Amino acid sequence: MAQYRGTDRGIFEKKLDFSFTKTNVLIIRSNPCNPDSRVEKIATSLSKLRTHVSVLAWDRDGSTDSNESRPGYHIHRVGIKASYGAGLANIVPMIKFQYKTLVYLWKNRANIDAIHACDFDTALPAFCIAKLCKKILIYDIFDYYVDTFSVPKKLKPIIKEMENFIINHADACIICSDSRLKQIAPATPKKQVIIHNAPKKPKSLKVFKLKNSKRHRIKIAYVGSLSPHRYIKELLELVQENHLLELHIAGFGVLQDMVEHYAKESDNIEFYGKICYEDTLALENACDILTALYNPDITNHIYAAPNKFYESLFLGKPVVMIRGTGMSEYVLNYKLGEVIDFSKENLLQACIRLVETNTKDLEKKRKYIYETQFSWDIMEQKLFGIYKDFFPLSIKKLIAIVFGTRPEAIKLAPLIKELQGKNNFLVCNILSNQHTESMLQPILQAFGIRAHFNLHVHHKFQTLHSISSKILDRLSPLLAHIEPDLVCVHGDTTTAYVGALTSFYQHIPIAHIEAGLRTYNLKAPFPEEFNRQSIALIADYHFTPTTTTKTHLLAEHIPEKNIFVVGNTAIDALHITISKGFTHPLLDWLENDLCLLLTAHRRENLGSNLKHIFTAINNLLEAIPNLKVIYPIHPNPSIQDMAQKYLKSQKRLRIIPPLDVIAFHNLLHRADIILTDSGGIQEEAPALHKPVLVLRETTERIEGLEAGTLKLVGTDPSSIFQATYDLLHIKTLYREMANKTNPYGNGTSSRQIVAALENIFNNDGDD
Ligand code: UD1
Ligand code: UDP
Repeated sequence: MAQYRGTDRGIFEKKLDFSFTKTNVLIIRSNPCNPDSRVEKIATSLSKLRTHVSVLAWDRDGSTDSNESRPGYHIHRVGIKASYGAGLANIVPMIKFQYKTLVYLWKNRANIDAIHACDFDTALPAFCIAKLCKKILIYDIFDYYVDTFSVPKKLKPIIKEMENFIINHADACIICSDSRLKQIAPATPKKQVIIHNAPKKPKSLKVFKLKNSKRHRIKIAYVGSLSPHRYIKELLELVQENHLLELHIAGFGVLQDMVEHYAKESDNIEFYGKICYEDTLALENACDILTALYNPDITNHIYAAPNKFYESLFLGKPVVMIRGTGMSEYVLNYKLGEVIDFSKENLLQACIRLVETNTKDLEKKRKYIYETQFSWDIMEQKLFGIYKDFFPLSIKKLIAIVFGTRPEAIKLAPLIKELQGKNNFLVCNILSNQHTESMLQPILQAFGIRAHFNLHVHHKFQTLHSISSKILDRLSPLLAHIEPDLVCVHGDTTTAYVGALTSFYQHIPIAHIEAGLRTYNLKAPFPEEFNRQSIALIADYHFTPTTTTKTHLLAEHIPEKNIFVVGNTAIDALHITISKGFTHPLLDWLENDLCLLLTAHRRENLGSNLKHIFTAINNLLEAIPNLKVIYPIHPNPSIQDMAQKYLKSQKRLRIIPPLDVIAFHNLLHRADIILTDSGGIQEEAPALHKPVLVLRETTERIEGLEAGTLKLVGTDPSSIFQATYDLLHIKTLYREMANKTNPYGNGTSSRQIVAALENIFNNDGDD
């Protein structure tokens, strides 16, 4: 697979044991694929995996190469003039096509992981490059060469031998019906899969307006190649002679002029030229009968699996087939249509019988057989099965989780663990390192997760500008390289905002975890309120903690179907971190005294607010002799300076570096009261039945205020003092607050998010 060259820094966290990059699949087909229903179905289905799909096709009308982009894949057409279906008569252009294919494969070998070669006329260059460059070769037999084209007798065994050699040496071989097994004998593929030519269900069937149609006439459909050995001339003659019938015929090929001539001469024959597959199904659906008439003298017809057979099942329409040709046995055995020895009279009688005997029940039966045995959904899973064997990661969805601060790491860790436990997801953890390793690594360790990439943006005295520009610069090439199916960001940090912005620029879907929190004041919290509002604008899926936060998103015109109320993953984290047997020197130090846990770091509190908070702490320690205060201080140097300057040093106060998450959560569990301007702690502490006094004028955790688990005390020293003092001294007040129900969920948020994502991806891509 292509290797990531990286940016200016070595952003691989460790040498990775697997690659996140997509699998490159090249399909080769010796026609222009314009249309080619089987190639189109295969390309579209493969493009639903983590793949880049391209098709190398042969434009037989042009003499220059051309490109076309289709939804999900790209076609490169080699222009070499030649006719269709002429077999070895096309030998010179065929050699040119082989040569050009070989050159194309060689030039593009670095961007090819699997070659999906369709039929023998693409097999030789595919085989050479696959073996030389160690690529996976999937050999897909639409038609077995010697039984399909007129090949001189002497050459037949050689070509058969060569095709069987390819079959035996390809990594996997696809055939389109069970009977082909006999045809390819004695070849023994390493791995063989039967993928029928089943039509793909369109979203809805179009209504096709049949031209010049009369109600009383039997309407016969034929859409396909206009080539010999398909009784096309006989069909045209029969319909022209018989005014009980009308023929609606479409397609292209060597017999086109003849078909046009008959259509011009007869008022009951209509020719529609080359039509797209959607119109094919619509035309057939508008008729009474489908014809799949193949001459059984052509060996390939004995083993073929004609599209028209499957289309008849899908549409519930009766079909006429010729005895001995591929799938005709099935039609006979299950009484799905008429199987005849060809004569115009037999064909006429079959058409009449089919119209007379067709019933709604028969139509249902055909459709049921399609759904349960031949639907393209079933075939697609078989196709995925082949690719899964060689590229196990290609069937997974890649979710990139971008985070960089302490609270993001704590709240995303349970989600990462839940995603990693699912087979259908591949998770790529990208650390911005907005916060230092010392803040983040203990969290990753505590939850047993690892970062795959680190953008290394942290530096002392970093500014919003410096982190933003570095994340954008370093995340951009990384996302372009790994092409995630979804990027997850959390909350309202600079990492979350810029992570979402980078994904938005690359059209990568965004999931926003902890969405919908609002103060509607862009200055508080600054810049978080801006960050979260901006993320909401560009996110595709919004995982919001409560019904209140959901109303904010609805008011911002986010479609309700994209909002999921799931609680807060912070509570999930507590289920992992808190343990009964936890020991810590700080717990010993607390003895049986009252414990006040303090944290403060918000930008809007830096300066005089922080000074006021510290004054209140000094006063509380003086007034309550059995009170001990633990203050894990944020690494921000300006906070550290302030604490040194304004907090009176004393035995019952411990100012300590940030605690690792396990210690902090367990200390939270032991504490009696929490004073904080942190967001996450407002959600966690009430889950542990601890009263929280919020050191801010406003909070976006309104549900906590409404539930009574939080109280806003601002930063006025006397308000802080009084509220704390009262709670610690009036037992009923304390109990009332501590026993309120936490509105942020029950610890199942990650599970709910993953279930929603599974649902989103399952319903995705079905065009
Ligand atoms: C950031 C988030 C805030 C979140 C908080 C969690 C933004 C704008 N703010 O604020 O929403 O609540 O994280 O803690 O994203 N520092 C270190 N080492 C660290 C972390 C910070 O030295 O591990 C110092 C740096 O000097 C830095 C300062 O702290 O300049 C501020 O850090 P920064 O990440 O910019 O903002 P926070 O206040 O941590
Ligand atoms: N936390 C921690 N160690 C500490 C202080 C806090 O692990 O020393 C945890 C706390 O449990 C919560 C998160 O950090 O999960 C809150 O982080 P912070 O207050 O920095 O950010 P905010 O929640 O305000 O965004």
